[in-house]
Amino acid sequence: MVGPGGREHAMITSLLRDPHVSEVHAAPGNAGIAQDVPVHPLNAQDPEAVVALARELSADLVVVGPEAPLVAGVADALDAAGIPVFGPSREAARIEGSKSFAKEIMAAAGVPTARAVATSDMMQVREALELFGAPHVVKDDGLAAGKGVVVTQDRDRAEAHARECLDAGGSVVVEEFLDGPEVSLFVLSDGEHVVPLQPAQDFKRVRDGDEGPNTGGMGAYTPLDWLPEDFTREVVERVARPVVNELRRRGTPFTGVLYCGLALTPRGVQVIEFNARFGDPETQSVLAMLETPLGELLLDAARGRLDEERPLQWRPGASVTIVLAAHNYPGAPRRGDVISGLEEVNEVPETRVIHAGTERNDAGELVSAGGRVLAVVSLGADLREARERGYRGVQRITLNGSHHRTDIALAAAEGRIEVPTPGAAQHTATRGTATSMDGRPAASTAEEQA
Ligand code: AMP
Ligand code: GLY
Repeated sequence: MVGPGGREHAMITSLLRDPHVSEVHAAPGNAGIAQDVPVHPLNAQDPEAVVALARELSADLVVVGPEAPLVAGVADALDAAGIPVFGPSREAARIEGSKSFAKEIMAAAGVPTARAVATSDMMQVREALELFGAPHVVKDDGLAAGKGVVVTQDRDRAEAHARECLDAGGSVVVEEFLDGPEVSLFVLSDGEHVVPLQPAQDFKRVRDGDEGPNTGGMGAYTPLDWLPEDFTREVVERVARPVVNELRRRGTPFTGVLYCGLALTPRGVQVIEFNARFGDPETQSVLAMLETPLGELLLDAARGRLDEERPLQWRPGASVTIVLAAHNYPGAPRRGDVISGLEEVNEVPETRVIHAGTERNDAGELVSAGGRVLAVVSLGADLREARERGYRGVQRITLNGSHHRTDIALAAAEGRIEVPTPGAAQHTATRGTATSMDGRPAASTAEEQA
């Protein structure tokens, strides 16, 4: 398992439950992962180093967790060395690494997404902001760990973010605002076949009520009982399969997990973004619910043998994940704060701690070492019970200066999430002169997002 974070710890936890898996090694891992499996020092962005370690361990499968090693070509190097790898090639990973490439693929594959302008010219940025109207959406075109996006009513702030990205030598994507609840759907692919997991919802903003700046994700839950019944099938057929087909047609098949970030808008499902890897912290909850052995699934994907006909097995009930973040996150997080109380979390039924940014200090104490430090993952008969357990777990942890959201899965547990009815777009207040791809007025709202 290549990677250092919560997603990797969650995958390892699942792999250790798989009777087909005899041994798991992690590199570089973190302090929590090191309690579960052997860890090895590794520069995960160095393809040759990853190949060398995989050879040394005689690995039957290498799973690449984060995006950066994929974009650095780690999967290509493993593939060239004949080592099965779960994770796409550098070229296919551009679906995440470049927002403008993702838009190009979606246009070619006919996938519904927000209209967008990719540019490195400030004049064109201004024109696009004018065209699409508020709320404004401005994205750094490159990898930014979920933090390169500004969604705001404030025109000056939108322009300032664009200027910052351009001044740093990059380019930006300006796009229309997608209004509606967000869903993360992970779709496994072996380059040809596609197998969806259970949809989850992430909480991107740092504070309760979706206030404050974007983060990598402050919590998650699954399942989403408020979704239309055929949601997953629709996303597979209208989004995931066309993208996988388009990438294969270009000679760069996608092997791994295509993370579809979606909005349920008055115009139907629209793609917000793709990632070329599992989402963090959604993975913590999704894999906690998956009963089908994970190792076999990942190996099948790596070997081009995914079986679309074989249904995945899911636990009944619900799972909630609550992230404990370090002081000042999503700004530069404070490191080195001592963590205690984790043993007491295990006393809460069906609740466990997944480590993200943790390490041991010279005294051997467990300390914070990143922005998102821990995730408390709970299962329950329903969301209400899973939440209650999760927050009981969080209360037992001591981490100086830490913060977490108190409303993870709350609206869903209370039945307060509304899916917009397709066709209702014309009743929504429309700002600016944006029109959708089929010529109807684009949906837009006056809700403050940033
Ligand atoms: P991204 O990195 O593209 O996933 O964007 C991060 C977050 O910004 C998303 O999860 C959304 O909450 C928000 N966002 C991105 N693009 C849009 C959009 N076009 N409309 C509304 N919200 C967006
Ligand atoms: N939770 C959002 C992400 O993994 O990108």
